[in-house]
Amino acid sequence: MTVRAFLIPKRALPALLALVAITAGCRIDMHIQPYYRTMAKSDFFGDERSARLPVEGTVARGDLHEDAYFYTGKIGSNPGGFMPFPVTAEVLDRGRERFNINCTPCHGRVGDGGGFIPTRGFKRPPSYHIERLRKAPIGYFFDVMTNGYGVMPEYGTQVAPRDRWCIAAYIRALQLSQNATSADVPTGQKVPSAPPQFRDIGNGATLPQIALPTAAAAEGEPK
Ligand code: HEC
Repeated sequence: MTVRAFLIPKRALPALLALVAITAGCRIDMHIQPYYRTMAKSDFFGDERSARLPVEGTVARGDLHEDAYFYTGKIGSNPGGFMPFPVTAEVLDRGRERFNINCTPCHGRVGDGGGFIPTRGFKRPPSYHIERLRKAPIGYFFDVMTNGYGVMPEYGTQVAPRDRWCIAAYIRALQLSQNATSADVPTGQKVPSAPPQFRDIGNGATLPQIALPTAAAAEGEPK
């Protein structure tokens, strides 16, 4: 094969140029598209706004939020005292996962306020195990997450409503766990082992460290 084979015959040149011109035109068409950027001006409407207001009395798909309690945790202006859906093991698992991601950096794994961020100068949150928060209705926790509280930022935009309820249920479980006694164990059921003793419970950035079993703790182990 010689180099000559790649040369374009002179007669084909106009057709080739026309092809280039046509395809270049297509490319520009795709780049300049007939749409308005957000808040851009338009000459088409009398008020010169390109965006139209929603038609009165209509709701965008998925925005109805008919179940006000599910989205606010409130009945009127007071926090409600019940979950809007049944609490299953799956709900608590989800709550634990979301809590450990979103809340432990400040509140700590067990909700005592011993997270990592307060050790770097941010206000230390109150423990969930104080009398006032143990008595607070579950809807209160949902509301604090949704709107924030004091210096705590809101999580309504980052954590979906159902996940916020899962976290609220998990906080209730944490509160139970930190205040449980052997009297809370149903009669006839044995406590399988002594609870682990932590050297360090972890703070969200570090994992919990379990202390080596002592003679006293080992007594509770099943034989
Ligand atoms: C950046 C740190 C930070 C994160 C993350 C955080 N909080 Fe807080 N939280 C705080 C602080 C600080 C306070 C105390 C605010 C104050 O008193 O001004 C607080 C207070 C609270 C309170 C108690 C309100 C009261 O009545 O005293 C609850 C409940 C709570 N947070 C829940 C949560 C939940 C649930 C999450 C996760 C979705 C979360 N927080 C994530 C810092 C945080």
